[in-house]
Amino acid sequence: MYYKKLLFAVMALTFGAISAQQRIPEVEALLQKMTLEEKIGQLNLLTPGGGVATGEVVSKNVEAKIKAGEVGGLFGVAGPDKVRVAQELAVKKSRLGIPLLIGSDVIHGYKTTYPIPLGLASSWDMDLVQQAAQMAAKEATADGINWNFSPMVDIARDPRWGRIAEGAGEDPYLGSKIAEASVKGYQGDDLAAAHTMLACVKHFALYGAAEAGRDYHSVDMSKIKMFNQYLPPYKAAVDAGVASVMSSFNDIDGIPATGNKWLLTDLLRNRWDFKGFVVSDYTSLNEMIPHGLGDLQAVSALALNAGLDMDMVGEGFLTTLKKSLEEGKVTEEAITNACRRILEAKYVSGLFDNPYRYLDSKRPAKDILTKENRALARTLAAHSFVLLKNENNILPLQKNKKIALVGPLADSRNNMLGTWAPTGDVSLAVTILEGFKNVAPNATIQYAKGANISDDEEFAKHVNVFGPRIEIDERSPEVMVDEAVELAKNADVVVAVVGEATEMTGEAASRTDISIPESQKILIRALVATGKPVALVLMSGRPLTIPDELGLPVAILQVWHPGVEAGNAIADVVFGDYNPSGKLTVTWPRNVGQIPIYYSAKNTGRPAPENDEFQKFRSNYLDSPNSPLLPFGYGLSYTNFEYSNLKLDKTSIGQGESISATVTVTNTGNYDGEEVVQLYLKDEVRSITPPKRELKGFRKILLKKGESKEVTITLSPDDLKFYNSQLDFVAEPGEFQVFVGTNSDAQLSKSFVLN
Ligand code: BGC
Repeated sequence: MYYKKLLFAVMALTFGAISAQQRIPEVEALLQKMTLEEKIGQLNLLTPGGGVATGEVVSKNVEAKIKAGEVGGLFGVAGPDKVRVAQELAVKKSRLGIPLLIGSDVIHGYKTTYPIPLGLASSWDMDLVQQAAQMAAKEATADGINWNFSPMVDIARDPRWGRIAEGAGEDPYLGSKIAEASVKGYQGDDLAAAHTMLACVKHFALYGAAEAGRDYHSVDMSKIKMFNQYLPPYKAAVDAGVASVMSSFNDIDGIPATGNKWLLTDLLRNRWDFKGFVVSDYTSLNEMIPHGLGDLQAVSALALNAGLDMDMVGEGFLTTLKKSLEEGKVTEEAITNACRRILEAKYVSGLFDNPYRYLDSKRPAKDILTKENRALARTLAAHSFVLLKNENNILPLQKNKKIALVGPLADSRNNMLGTWAPTGDVSLAVTILEGFKNVAPNATIQYAKGANISDDEEFAKHVNVFGPRIEIDERSPEVMVDEAVELAKNADVVVAVVGEATEMTGEAASRTDISIPESQKILIRALVATGKPVALVLMSGRPLTIPDELGLPVAILQVWHPGVEAGNAIADVVFGDYNPSGKLTVTWPRNVGQIPIYYSAKNTGRPAPENDEFQKFRSNYLDSPNSPLLPFGYGLSYTNFEYSNLKLDKTSIGQGESISATVTVTNTGNYDGEEVVQLYLKDEVRSITPPKRELKGFRKILLKKGESKEVTITLSPDDLKFYNSQLDFVAEPGEFQVFVGTNSDAQLSKSFVLN
């Protein structure tokens, strides 16, 4: 009976449907017993340290607070034995014995770190995205964690912003699919299972639109843009049953997300019917003080009244809500509601049934960093790489060549995992040098560093907060370049691993110049000047402005920060064991002045010519073309794909009907390969200005050398809809144009009419 009720509650929360009538009796009974202080205690999330302290506060006297019933959850604690100590304090020493939520930032793998999210998104492979999240959940829960601060689904169109690395890129459609696959992967279909954890979609909302790409900066955006371009991935996570939401640091319409009632209640709960709980970001409640909204008591009351349930680290709720209640600034009902949502999450996690559910000391050895997990991380990495250029088919390399492997990232274990990998272990990462030796044991490989990641000591200091990511060599830059050039001259081919150190992206890692640092540019030019074939392996957490490098006669393989299997996966692709199939999920600008640049921009009333020809009094620049360096959806393969014979199954449809596009794709090159077939839609006339085109479907297919396949992508009625001036989600009658092809510049097109 109990189990049945639990199952019902689990299903109800997972599928987003606990209503007042369906309240969980155990939770209601518990609420009856709780004092005001105990209810407020549940709204408090603390960390004793051990995670990444991004704000100023690390909680004090955590043990005493748990015993006093003043803590609802902890993060920064891991391992069954340690978590057991904390859980026992709550269960055995606090008056009501309410178990703790144990949170963590498992952003791209727990211990088996896989590519940064921007890389994984570039695979356009939703099965892989889901498998990755499942693996992360299995490992994290083995270590006692039951709540994950992921997925991060912030749309980002400004590569200066360092946290672009943590999301899926610029597109709301692709971002929504990835949000859904991630939530399903973390939460599974039974939150009480030992291998699943609560997910937390973040950072709600619009965090990726920080002005000028500077982290934590203000956001100001029209509702139409929000609804059509920035909100869909959060909504997709909510629709997929995400258990919790994290409010963002930024303000929206002048009110920080953490205290924004329109956002947290009107939109999230009332319009989207979200049933889970909302947690603040790290001290984002307290940060409403410097934002300018009042003192701690005022901003805590504001947050509770706005719909925030849990206060991360700041203890504003803990220390002020009682006073605010006495002064009539908040109601007990609001406190009870917030507490209920947190207890319901604990209930569906199965923690009331067994608080030690996730604490099996045999599991870490069995479930973490297994051979299978590392194999999956290697696959995920290989699928995330994007071939940007392949002059003279330099890649793939034969395995018996003499290779000069150079560059500051070729043998840099510290930089393989990427940003936000606090649970990973850099010492386990495979370097490129090691990977090459593993995969091509018969090749002659000679290594030289060639350059520092950057020669700028001040910059290096800013990057090296979490460890020595940029290590400045004692030798002079000239000596280093000369050494690499000598190796290059004696080699058949040069592979240069260049780009960004791990913490050149991520939180508080914005850059105003997103090119390859000068020290490495000098190295690249010197290598190319030897006349030897050069392949650049480019590592970064963001799009880089690389017009110079793209103009050189080289191959460029973009590998992001690939994770623990970095070197092996890169070697798999460089030596042709896997044919690259990744596609960019953000537009790459030519220069910083073009930012924000994204493929779904509007036409304007004075569009510039498509061919970039300059015309006065058009929407363009005097000193740069409008077109990007590389378009959204772009990525090459070792083989070639040809698209032909695009057909629609109807020429006109009515409201509520679907329409299908079919195209023939042929592998005309010399390798088997995977291709992401992309469909873009243009709504010709709307009641609000439409984007030039929008991604509305894609399929990743495998084609053997010489093989042809017909690929069908169906547009659902919702795919034709948008939010109009009244914020109604509608499809308006008229003509639509469908484009299908290999990236967002797809030219094959057909039209249909919606009646
Ligand atoms: C980040 C969040 C993260 C939190 C807890 C914050 O600084 O913005 O993404 O989940 O810290 O570690």
